[in-house]
Amino acid sequence: MAAGFTYQNGSLHCDEVSLADVVAQVGTPLYVYSGASIRAAFAALDGALSASRHTLHYALKANSTLALLRLIRGLGAHADANSGGEIQVARRAGFEPAEIVFTGVGKTVDELDLAVGLGVKAINIESDGEAARIDRLAQARGLRARVALRVNPDIDPNTHAHISTGQRFNKFGVPIEHAPALLREMARRPGLEPVGLHVHLGSQLVEMAPLIRAAHALAGLARAAREMGVPLQHLDLGGGLGIAYGGEAAPDPVHYANAIAPIVAATGLDLLLEPGRYLVGPAGVLVGCIADLKRYPGSPRFMVLDTGMTELIRPALYQAFHRIGAVTPRAGDDHVYEVVGPLCETSDTLGHQRRFGPVEVGDPIAIFDAGAYGIVMASNYNRRRQPAEVLIDDGRWQIIRQRQSYDDLMAREV
Ligand code: LLP
Repeated sequence: MAAGFTYQNGSLHCDEVSLADVVAQVGTPLYVYSGASIRAAFAALDGALSASRHTLHYALKANSTLALLRLIRGLGAHADANSGGEIQVARRAGFEPAEIVFTGVGKTVDELDLAVGLGVKAINIESDGEAARIDRLAQARGLRARVALRVNPDIDPNTHAHISTGQRFNKFGVPIEHAPALLREMARRPGLEPVGLHVHLGSQLVEMAPLIRAAHALAGLARAAREMGVPLQHLDLGGGLGIAYGGEAAPDPVHYANAIAPIVAATGLDLLLEPGRYLVGPAGVLVGCIADLKRYPGSPRFMVLDTGMTELIRPALYQAFHRIGAVTPRAGDDHVYEVVGPLCETSDTLGHQRRFGPVEVGDPIAIFDAGAYGIVMASNYNRRRQPAEVLIDDGRWQIIRQRQSYDDLMAREV
């Protein structure tokens, strides 16, 4: 079972707390997070890197609920923000501007100006045009903005095409062969202070070889930059460390750290990483209740939950596999079900051909490893309200985000 979530006395628990009890009080759909699981993941990755000068910039895009951000900041993480909104939520959670790196394709002038004005640790530059815009904004404020260059190394990371970002045909970064020219240009601009290089190959990576190639490519470019008279401070290797959704082998953090950290250390520069999924993915479950059970000859058995693609879009969008289990399984014969949600779409399927013992309408069902890219990708499709979120930490549970109300749903409409 997912770290943090275990079956005790026949019922799913998180850190000594019974999920059935929480569900009885808060209702469903509901996200539940394990503080212990986040702490353990951070300690594992940070510990694996302890021999090298490094900073973990948590990728807020994976989950930016304020209470989780405060917990993660408390562990010593810095932040990776991908939009003006993520900068704002990082600030609200207590991250200092000097702890924030700002990445993203298509940053607007307003977003860039916010980052320049705050003086974030680095704005990761995506193009020549963006370099010019940041330069102009910084000069207008009489500042020099710290910037890093996001490089596209044209390396296939072997992950789902939708979350692969480092190949020539992807929209991200500048082609690596163009990087020296742009670095020289950045160094000439009075409003820019080049401080680093950035690469992010993709997400849910399980192979080390592409990451190693990308680290070498960045290290080589950093040496070339030094020879050009553009000394840098850090190499940011992005996020991407995969997790074991189906119990398959996922890289362990020591293996990951040993693969990439020495390559960066050899350059004398600081290592930055932007882990998202690894820190919070296994730390969250989505809980829904069975709304209906349908069984007709010639059709599959359908288990219809009160939660679906509006709360967790990963299965619909990436054909992602998430383990699914009853919160309090019953003993008896089992059957195979299509586990589906209530939305008016066939893509609203959470699991194909999943085996369950006896189930009844009203039973709570947990979808595992839903802490990353779950709540942050939730929508109001079919006018559904976004779910409540609960954090379990130190044996206590607390609602960290209330379920949306119907008034919330309509609050900004005339
Ligand atoms: N840094 C950058 C620049 C990124 O674009 C991302 C993720 C990360 C860091 C964090 O990557 P992680 O460590 O979480 O793999 N919604 C998709 C994942 C999209 C990832 C986008 N970028 C999913 O549910 O699988």
